[in-house]
Amino acid sequence: MTTDTSTAAARRDTLARPVDQDPADPSGPWDETASRPTVNGTARDVREEPRRLLVDALRKDFGVTTTATSCSDGVCGTCTVLVDGDPVRSCLMLVHEADGRTVRTAEDVLASEPGLSGIFSRHHAIQCGFCTPGYLVLATAMIEAGDPVSDRTLREIVSDNICRCTGYGPIVAAFREIAQVHGLWEDAE
Ligand code: FES
Ligand code: FES
Repeated sequence: MTTDTSTAAARRDTLARPVDQDPADPSGPWDETASRPTVNGTARDVREEPRRLLVDALRKDFGVTTTATSCSDGVCGTCTVLVDGDPVRSCLMLVHEADGRTVRTAEDVLASEPGLSGIFSRHHAIQCGFCTPGYLVLATAMIEAGDPVSDRTLREIVSDNICRCTGYGPIVAAFREIAQVHGLWEDAE
């Protein structure tokens, strides 16, 4: 269920590739097309340029505010969203790759799992809050995967993203309660 960070280097290579531009006008125009992702239940055509990132389309075309970038390099997980149910780094995904697919951000997962914010608060798993949307998305992916989890697997899930404030213990505790609430907890260790 974990985010596929193993392909991050390959994705960065793809984004770094030169693209064809009009030699008379190196700044553009781009070969624009339109993609139509469904974001938090709303399908919309978005203007697509080569290399346009999903995270930028989410914020500028769909008004998403929870999904943000920090490293822009596939490492921190702040930009994590669900694409067809799988956690994805939206800073490494081109918007055309989301054409026809379903994207969910923290706004949507909180609407479907409103108890998550209370659990995070109770365990002090939120300090500055910058990492929180990505962790809410990971927690939802864990719930929807429906696989049994232990402390070991919880730590693997939580290690997908980076938090600079909490020391991770409170986030692991929040994930443990979420797993218990959803009947996923197996204390195998
Ligand atoms: S901003 Fe996407 S992984 Fe850090
Ligand atoms: S709460 Fe500040 S980065 Fe996680």
